[in-house]
Amino acid sequence: SRKIIIDTDPGQDDAFAILLALGSPELEVVGVTAVAGNVPVSKTEWNARRVLELGGRQDIRVAPGCSRPMVKSLFTAEYVHGDSGLEGCDLPEPSMPALDIHAIDFLIDRLMAEPEGEITLCPLGPLTNIAMAMVKEPRILGRIREIVLMGGGYFEGGNTTPAAEFNIFVDPHAAHVVFTSGVPLTMVPIDCTYKALMTPAWLEELRALGTRTAREAAGMASFYQEYGNQKFGTDSYPLHDPCVIGYLLRPDLFQGRACHVEIETTSPTTLGMTVVDWWNVTKRPTNCHVLRDLDNPAFYALMLERIGRLP
Ligand code: BDR
Ligand code: CA
Repeated sequence: SRKIIIDTDPGQDDAFAILLALGSPELEVVGVTAVAGNVPVSKTEWNARRVLELGGRQDIRVAPGCSRPMVKSLFTAEYVHGDSGLEGCDLPEPSMPALDIHAIDFLIDRLMAEPEGEITLCPLGPLTNIAMAMVKEPRILGRIREIVLMGGGYFEGGNTTPAAEFNIFVDPHAAHVVFTSGVPLTMVPIDCTYKALMTPAWLEELRALGTRTAREAAGMASFYQEYGNQKFGTDSYPLHDPCVIGYLLRPDLFQGRACHVEIETTSPTTLGMTVVDWWNVTKRPTNCHVLRDLDNPAFYALMLERIGRLP
């Protein structure tokens, strides 16, 4: 099975990503690192542990990470995820304490302990922990198999400013470090995740699975969907972060192309924009596989089947 570390700021859609990974024997989650993003890091690390508890995987440990972005001040998203970051459900108290080691050092230690190309990183929030680990110990660059991250958006604009998606907007400087690192990158931007619309019918199927995990997951999904429904006047809202895990499991369900991507770090108007050279007009070497499309019914069928395996 493929070893992954999930770096996350749960977040209802982060929770779905974690649960999808837990239900998938193709993946071995060697650890979870928490970062400040949707809510402050004290809450994201707690939420990450509660989600692992729900999934029955107290053996997977959580390392708390950075409390704010590298340069900017922290911008959070309680307006989407609620005060706790995981409103809409009633999760068990975690039986495992957080690790005593900082996420940056956890990432470095695990990557240096494994042979080259063994661990895939799955960032689902701002890239602060990943970039800080790269700055602290550049030898990890050669160790990482690949980074598959949720973030960015180019073709349809941003979801947090007209130009920027939330994860990249929160810490554009960290994103710059990661996108210039030379590590193989796949980015799942909102252009792709907005095709992962969760329909009310699917939510009913999820609830009907009847397990505790499915019930709580459905609760958090309805809370999260309510925000989308009010904002857009629709009945379906995308689960962004599980697309990262979905891509690892079934790359055939996704389409994209290799591009040069640059992060805007100076312009006040477009700060955090992911500038994707889709048409290769600059002829610069590609640094990122940019996904743009996915097979929605197959993706949601996979989620249902995998989350259904959890207690
Ligand atoms: C991203 O922002 C967060 O609110 C979600 O968890 C997701 O990672 C989508 O823009
Ligand atoms: Ca997230």
